[in-house]
Amino acid sequence: MILKSIRLKNFRKFKDSFIEFPDGVTGVIGLNGVGKSTLFEAIAWTLYGPVAARTSTEQIKREGAAPSDPCRVELDFIFDDDAYHVVREISGKNLSASGSATVNGKQVVNGAEVLSKFIQKKLGMDWKSFYTSIFAKQKELNTLSSMNPSERRQLILRMLGINAIDEIISQIRSDLKEKKNLIETLSGMLVDEQGNNRILRFQQEIERQQQRLKERSFRIEEQQRHHQKIQQELLKIKKDSETKKISYEKNLQTAALLEEKKSKSEKKQRLEHDIKTIETTLQERKTALKKLQENLLQTRNLEKEIQEFEKQQEKNTDSLQVLLRKKEQNLTITTRLQDEITQLSAKKHSIEKIGPKAKCPTCERVLGDQQNKLIKTYTEDIAKKHQETQRLMEEQKKLQDESDRFSRERQALQKKNMFLRNRVVEREKTQSSLRHTTGEMERETNQLEQKKKDLKLLGDIDFDEKYYQQIRSQVNDCYRLYQQSLTTLDGIKEKQQEITIALKEQEGEKKLIDQQIKTTERNIEEQQQVQKKLEKERTETQHCSMLSEVMESFRTYLISQIRPMLSAHASELFNELTDGKYSQIELDENYDLLVYDHGVAYTIERFSGGEEDLANLCIRLAISEIITERAGSVFQFVILDEIFGSQDQIRKQNIIKTLNGFSSKFKQIFLITHVDDIKHFTEHTMMISEDDAGISWIKIE
Ligand SMILES: Nc1ncnc2c1ncn2[C@@H]1O[C@H](COP(=O)(O)OP(=O)(O)O)[C@@H](O)[C@H]1O
Ligand SMILES: [Mg+2]
Repeated sequence: MILKSIRLKNFRKFKDSFIEFPDGVTGVIGLNGVGKSTLFEAIAWTLYGPVAARTSTEQIKREGAAPSDPCRVELDFIFDDDAYHVVREISGKNLSASGSATVNGKQVVNGAEVLSKFIQKKLGMDWKSFYTSIFAKQKELNTLSSMNPSERRQLILRMLGINAIDEIISQIRSDLKEKKNLIETLSGMLVDEQGNNRILRFQQEIERQQQRLKERSFRIEEQQRHHQKIQQELLKIKKDSETKKISYEKNLQTAALLEEKKSKSEKKQRLEHDIKTIETTLQERKTALKKLQENLLQTRNLEKEIQEFEKQQEKNTDSLQVLLRKKEQNLTITTRLQDEITQLSAKKHSIEKIGPKAKCPTCERVLGDQQNKLIKTYTEDIAKKHQETQRLMEEQKKLQDESDRFSRERQALQKKNMFLRNRVVEREKTQSSLRHTTGEMERETNQLEQKKKDLKLLGDIDFDEKYYQQIRSQVNDCYRLYQQSLTTLDGIKEKQQEITIALKEQEGEKKLIDQQIKTTERNIEEQQQVQKKLEKERTETQHCSMLSEVMESFRTYLISQIRPMLSAHASELFNELTDGKYSQIELDENYDLLVYDHGVAYTIERFSGGEEDLANLCIRLAISEIITERAGSVFQFVILDEIFGSQDQIRKQNIIKTLNGFSSKFKQIFLITHVDDIKHFTEHTMMISEDDAGISWIKIE
């Protein structure tokens, strides 16, 4: 892999920088924090994406860049003779990632994640291996030289990715542990609390359940036979009952017919009887009617009699009144006469008394002779009046007799009146009876006619009471027999139902046992599965143990291989860098560095500081080489980031000088340093500097 160019847009401190990577040794020079390491971090990020960045994605885009500005890196390189153009970008508020790769001008990948995968596949290594192989840091060199052997060994193994095997081994071990636990659990599942084999127990249970099922089936068959028998019996009884029902109904029908006849016959009898009765009644009524009519005939002059009576009565009343009036008049006259007599007597007495000399009380003349004349006149008048009174009294007496006679006649008339009234009432009664009788007779005649008509309609009825009674008793007998058959039928039905229910229960229980068997079978199946799984787990455990052993030995083998390989590669580099002065360096079993001088191995302390630096650099570069080779590819560039630590000027110069002669192995060597004077010793210089705005720029010198 040879780097061709890189364009950085808003990547960390770089706003917009483009440089072409020269071949040979290039010093990458700039003050601390200007973005030297960033430049190479950008290469890894472009190829592998966010995993290869130092920080989270949000911190990658340049601070101060506008939100709409994307952060973008374009990298051009040659790999396996193909020209790659890889672009990675984060843009927008959400920093959405995109990426693409073009090989020889043809786009092969589009999308951030697919790009990472594509690169990993092409280069044959993940980002960590990539980093380790191209990027050597001073820290690592320090570690290689100053750490104790065990730490050194750890670092080397980690750099070479042997720790990946360790991880695998520990993964296998944890798998094994898990499997062992699982096996224990599964084994536990196969036995019950008493430690008995569960499958065996379930099998015994199935046997028991099957025995129960057999018994149940036998009983069901028995009951089915019984059920069949009852069914047959039921059919027979049903038929019998049906026959009895028909016979009963037939008799009932006959009885009904006879009953109809009977009622007709009874009706006929009633009609005949009624007709007779009505006829008798009618006859009686005729006689009564005749009598009534005769009675009525006797009262035909009653009106006239009443008229005459009334006339008589009127006459009587009138006469009586005339008499009474006369009597009263007589009485008045008599009273008046008596008064007059009294007055006259008084006058006569007074005249007699006064004598003839006295003056007339009326004419005031002296009476004289007149007195006697007057007394005589008075006496005659009084006598006359007495005579009149006498006559009146006699007449009065006659009138009294007359009125008595009329009163008696009146009493007789009153009696007659009563008698006549009674007769009127009697006649009214007779008339009413007559009307009633005539009405009744009319009604009864109609009735009679109707009844006769009804009777005629009934016609001749032949009803045999004896036969009817016989049929009635037959109906009762048939009914009783029919009812008996029904009771028997009910009994049988009940029995049938009982058996049906019992049968259903048995079948339900059978089903239950069936289900239980199925459950037990399922349990067995489950247990068998557990057993199978257990067996599988046991086999897998065996395999895992084997794998673990293999991996362990593989690891041991790798480690044993690594040292000679590392030594060989480092020796080659060291030989070249020392111009053949030292042909061999070696890591011993303790990972201590040995340098051979004239065939004799010496620990590194024997040599100069510069030689020690070189030896360690060779070890580090050998590690890079091994990783690259293991991936089946060749990286023709290497980045050495601040590898100069405490070295003095001469030592630095020596290293750079030797690196210059290293072009056979590494076409591009980038020496990152903040030491400015390095530029005098390198072929090319890449100056990185920061402007006032904090933006970094790169310049090739
Ligand atoms: N997103 C960023 N925007 C601007 N500067 C950044 C951003 N991320 C890191 N930096 C700066 O980049 C510098 C680190 O660059 P680095 O390449 O490590 O320096 P050096 O030249 O010492 O290798 C630091 O000063 C750090 O503040
Ligand atoms: Mg740095």
